[in-house]
Amino acid sequence: MIQEDLERIREEAKEQIEKAVSSDDINQIKVNILGKKGALTAILRGMKDVAKEDRPKVGQLVNETREKIEQALAKTQAEMEAKAQNARLSAETIDVTLPAKRMERGHLHPNQVALREIEEIFIGMGYEVVDGPEVEKDYYNFEALNIPADHPAKDEQDTFYINRDMLLRTQTSGVQIHEMEKGRIPIRMIAPGRVYRADEVDATHSPVFHQVEGLVVDKGITFADLKGTLAEFAKGVFGEETKVRFRPHHFPFTEPSAEMDISCFKCGGKGCSFCKNEGWIEILGCGMVHPHVLEMCHIDPEEYSGFAFGIGLERIALLKYEIDDMRLLYENDIRFLRQF
Ligand code: DAH
Repeated sequence: MIQEDLERIREEAKEQIEKAVSSDDINQIKVNILGKKGALTAILRGMKDVAKEDRPKVGQLVNETREKIEQALAKTQAEMEAKAQNARLSAETIDVTLPAKRMERGHLHPNQVALREIEEIFIGMGYEVVDGPEVEKDYYNFEALNIPADHPAKDEQDTFYINRDMLLRTQTSGVQIHEMEKGRIPIRMIAPGRVYRADEVDATHSPVFHQVEGLVVDKGITFADLKGTLAEFAKGVFGEETKVRFRPHHFPFTEPSAEMDISCFKCGGKGCSFCKNEGWIEILGCGMVHPHVLEMCHIDPEEYSGFAFGIGLERIALLKYEIDDMRLLYENDIRFLRQF
């Protein structure tokens, strides 16, 4: 009787183990057969009804059955684990022969390249690079620069006003005033930054563009210092053979004022389509700081003098890279930018 029961339990266990697909299934089988309320345990409990002389034999049979089932369970469990491990390992395989992902590397914008070059040239001559506010008082952008209230440059068509006293600076020249007001002389500074004008966008205009302001104030500064300095700058950016010329001009905050041209770096000054047959290309505005401007900053024009200049950064970048449309600098078309 008991032998038959044991035989049946073994058969059942075998069937269940064959069907098992997870270790949960295996555990369930353990509970069903070997657990406290399991089939095999029930048989052990019935031992008391077995004749005394048969007990050792039956006991041995029960143990054998238990061992067999345990072995079968352990074997299946081990197989399952090995299979799961293999699956995991093959999922994690890295094929080192696959081509690597290409890393796109960015680079500086042409404006930034030009600016760094300009900064390096002036730093090399002992200049400091300073910053000034883009949202500026009318006083710094105009008044203190000798631009009176009725000056055409103050026309609201050109200037973005925030309120009666505040505006978006139309030029970096206001930084000159901030620097002079600090009262530390000598001054040798450049101030690069954004400027704003209410202009329509076209090939040569943008409502936001960049200037690099320059200012030197010390005892005994003359127009010769201005010429020498700016000639060095032109050579640094456009090549050693670059020549410069100065044409009289007018800026309210400098006296005398000039515009500086460089010899065309395409034709060397002979005249070509790039320089519109002029041989010269206009590059910046400059002049000796107006005595009245010095006075307004509490600097005695009898004791000190200075020169100033204003460079259009985009103009330099456009010339340097022979780009004929300013809009290209702002549109961020990757096909354009990749060329630099
Ligand atoms: N601020 C002038 C402009 O926006 C440029 C300029 C001219 C700056 C002469 C100067 C200068 O410092 O001396 O057109």
